[in-house]
Amino acid sequence: MDSPELPHPTDNRWLAPLVGLFRSVRFRVREVLAAPTQWRRHKRRVDRAFDAAHGVDTGGVVPLHAMGVTTPSARLAVDYIASDPEEFEAAMTALAVDAERFTFVDVGCGKGRALILAARQPWRRLIGVEFSSSLCAVARTNLARAVGGARQVEVRCQDALEFELPDEPLVLFLYNPFERSLMKAFAARVAASLERSPRDIRVVYTNPFHGDEWIAAGFELCARGDTHAIYRSVARR
Ligand SMILES: C[S@@+](CC[C@H](N)C(=O)[O-])C[C@H]1O[C@@H](n2cnc3c(N)ncnc32)[C@H](O)[C@@H]1O
Repeated sequence: MDSPELPHPTDNRWLAPLVGLFRSVRFRVREVLAAPTQWRRHKRRVDRAFDAAHGVDTGGVVPLHAMGVTTPSARLAVDYIASDPEEFEAAMTALAVDAERFTFVDVGCGKGRALILAARQPWRRLIGVEFSSSLCAVARTNLARAVGGARQVEVRCQDALEFELPDEPLVLFLYNPFERSLMKAFAARVAASLERSPRDIRVVYTNPFHGDEWIAAGFELCARGDTHAIYRSVARR
């Protein structure tokens, strides 16, 4: 407790602004340091609830070095971390397309959580592309458990830059799978495929750090939410 005899620092006209500044900096520092801890706790809760509800293993973080991928694009990949189901649903609501017209592709499908969520909708086909063979194996087991024979979901173990885009209307789902230069190369690949075969392609990009690469590749932004951006192919006149 402060002594009543001593002047309080905030009574001093020189000291008071410094004390105020110190307190607001201390508050901000505590806030910034607490945020990742809160986020990790929240993620652990979400992971446990999702995996228990579906009898699967989609949680946790798998760092790049543990994936065993040695291709040059591995240096530009982001660690495995599963989509948050609420964020996924928000993006799908914003997408608002007739699922039966489109093939859904999760580019960098990891352990398959987004595919499990997507399988609730009547897509023409569902495909996951993942370059880590260990994650592909986990995804296949998870899909067999959570989706079973109800829907056929194909998991292709290959690099996104080698994936042949199907010649049909597509929803490309990207949960921040790679760094800018790879996103640029992937967007250019999609643009080239469109050039050869014009069709409706939607890109659902969650945590869209490099969304401008889709604009640069000739796509237009059609929706944006707190954690997603959605782009579409522009019809050629
Ligand atoms: C953030 S996780 C997203 C997982 C999943 N899409 C989901 O929403 O739950 C990104 C995934 O992309 C994969 N990835 C990164 N670069 C890739 C590439 N060039 N080709 C294929 N997969 C890649 C990683 O191995 C990782 O599993």
